[in-house]
Amino acid sequence: MSFAVGADLYDRFMGRYAVPLAPGFADLAAVDAGRRVLDVGCGPGALTAELVRRLGPSAVSAVDPSEPFVAAARQRHPGVDVQRATAEELPFEDRVFDAALAQLVVHFMTRPVEGLREMARVTRKDGVVAASVWDHAGGQGPLSLYWQAVRELDPDVEDESQLAGAGEGDLGLLFREAGLREIQESTLSVSVEHPSFEEWWEPYTLGVGPAGVYVAGLNAEMQAQLRDRCRAMLPPPPFTVTAVAWAARGLA
Ligand SMILES: C[S@@+](CC[C@H](N)C(=O)[O-])C[C@H]1O[C@@H](n2cnc3c(N)ncnc32)[C@H](O)[C@@H]1O
Repeated sequence: MSFAVGADLYDRFMGRYAVPLAPGFADLAAVDAGRRVLDVGCGPGALTAELVRRLGPSAVSAVDPSEPFVAAARQRHPGVDVQRATAEELPFEDRVFDAALAQLVVHFMTRPVEGLREMARVTRKDGVVAASVWDHAGGQGPLSLYWQAVRELDPDVEDESQLAGAGEGDLGLLFREAGLREIQESTLSVSVEHPSFEEWWEPYTLGVGPAGVYVAGLNAEMQAQLRDRCRAMLPPPPFTVTAVAWAARGLA
């Protein structure tokens, strides 16, 4: 599993884009005072932090299958009920939450429709289920330049573009299949400034997620080749990476 890594490594690799994504995503799910919400696939807690800021820890529950991430989320967010579980088997009674949110998770679910169905099951009638996935298929994700460089060197690579929810309209279809109603699709975007090429590249070497696992499987020479290809494709530092995520919400 590509998320059996320390929370600090995740922060440096994906957290830098996930943290700024969270406020817009919480807005989309209409997370405001008085709600009880579930953060599905919480990781070390990028979205959890935003939910706690809005609602307080006792109104937030979170699940993730990764042991180190669950430990980090518990330690970072005392008072939040953090459990080790997958979206496909949520350890909650029916209709106990006002909203269930999955930020950057649907594409990693083993059975995405089942995961969304479970999110709907634990959400009260007319409560909100929401999900976001980077635009890996359309080339607007935060890792898109990296994967483009990989494909130029290794045309047969399996990148993240084929994953569930990664293409335009995919989330809406999955929501429909999961039985959600009044589905609305939109996009969210973040802009992150990178002060140097090294600051951008080094987190790719930490083994986090499919991109990190791919780098870890290369020998030193191939890694250097990929690093140099990325450097040549990026603008001179400092540069800004603007990334787009597909988002969908529906009613349970
Ligand atoms: C890209 S991270 C997103 C983490 C966090 N939501 C954020 O925005 O930073 C993907 C997360 O999905 C989790 N995950 C993988 N498969 C899952 C599943 N079947 N159900 C729930 N979470 C899953 C991983 O452990 C990881 O923490």
